[in-house]
Amino acid sequence: MVPYLSMDGRQRRENRFHSPWQRVSRRGGLWGLVLSMVGLPTAWSGTGPNYDEAKVPAYTLPDPLTCLDGTPVRTRRVWEQRRRPEILWLFEEHVYGRAPTRPPGMWWEVIEEDRNALGGRAVRREVSVWLRGDRGGPRMDLLLYLPAAATRPRPVFLGLNFMGNHTVHPDPGIRITDHWVPNDRRGTVVENRATSSSRGVAASNWPVERILARGYGLATVYCGDLEPDFPEGWKLGVRAALSPAGTNHVFAPEEWGAIAAWAWGLSRAMDYLQTDREVDPRGVVLIGHSRLGKAALWAGARDPRFALVIANESGEGGAALTRRRFGERIADLNRRFPHWFCGRYKQYDDREDDLPVDSHELIALMAPRPVYVGSASEDLWADPRGEFLAALEAGVVYRLYGRRGLDVSEMPPIGQSVGQWIGYHIRAGRHDLTAWDWEQYLDFADRHLRPR
Ligand code: GCU
Repeated sequence: MVPYLSMDGRQRRENRFHSPWQRVSRRGGLWGLVLSMVGLPTAWSGTGPNYDEAKVPAYTLPDPLTCLDGTPVRTRRVWEQRRRPEILWLFEEHVYGRAPTRPPGMWWEVIEEDRNALGGRAVRREVSVWLRGDRGGPRMDLLLYLPAAATRPRPVFLGLNFMGNHTVHPDPGIRITDHWVPNDRRGTVVENRATSSSRGVAASNWPVERILARGYGLATVYCGDLEPDFPEGWKLGVRAALSPAGTNHVFAPEEWGAIAAWAWGLSRAMDYLQTDREVDPRGVVLIGHSRLGKAALWAGARDPRFALVIANESGEGGAALTRRRFGERIADLNRRFPHWFCGRYKQYDDREDDLPVDSHELIALMAPRPVYVGSASEDLWADPRGEFLAALEAGVVYRLYGRRGLDVSEMPPIGQSVGQWIGYHIRAGRHDLTAWDWEQYLDFADRHLRPR
């Protein structure tokens, strides 16, 4: 039994300790108890997602500072040696699934370099990583921009992109991906092959010149190099290529899903970045938006080489508290994206309270490294308040290190960035990664990495 506790004396309606009887009434009275005993869902029973704060059920979060056997975590040592590995393992077994280690034969080659890119402002490098070691195996292409003026190794933002490296900037020097990409409404992709008209289509999400001007590099990889994002996409990606059974592989409930494959790819990108002499290996900042924000959080949790982690509107299965059942829920994820999480996660459809972890613990796995959660006011599907509360609750682990987390107790007004070692903002507008979001992330990175 996982220990549950109300956090930190900050009693809130949504975060209370429940007596057995309260648990009964929370499940919808005795009838709810009967339903839950025969295995039927009992939580939020309205149809469709809930966007009404008043309908968020009372819930109790698992306590990051109590081990599974009840041992309280009062020191960094107990956190690092017992509780942290335990939480990591729970996320692996129940949420994202287990990934393999780095294939021993993996290697890479720099396939292109322009030291006079973007009108002389940047160095552009493209690196192909042969993930399995053989040229018949999966290949991941990393695009790297560095400030041209740099005289010493630079901190670098690393993020996966949705549609191919050539979409992040109109720079005609970027190679167009030859991998499967989703068709788009604008017709820039024809039969899942990118055309040159897709150059720069995602440029508004990647303010490359601004990042360079602030003293950082940018590294990006197309997520589809690891696994194309559709239910059968694994057959074209690393989850098949690294299995002896190939496309006949039958996944055990705790084996990796697509998000874990994307996160694994981020660690493989880090393997390369550590060897690039123009990159500061202690200054690699992970950033991800939405589903790729979920992947960034999981990669940052697993791999302590990442110096700072940013999850932009990562929502359910990312930074948002699952137990609030606000906006998207586990059942929505599993129905619409059955390939994202491990098989066991499907057990938690409409059973959020049974999941042995919640997202505040995922964020806490970054400790003591800085972490930032970004929301948007119209992005209720991703539950901004649930993202804020998770960031807030993760603070108890930072306190073990004498570090201040969010430093506020209420959600900040729209458009204001808060937090010390845990950052948070809610931007006005819809689900997106904008130049304004980037400014907050660059400021936060400046405070912790001091690139200049
Ligand atoms: C869908 C999905 C979200 C995800 C988002 C995205 O909306 O339901 O969980 O974060 O796509 O990746 O843009």
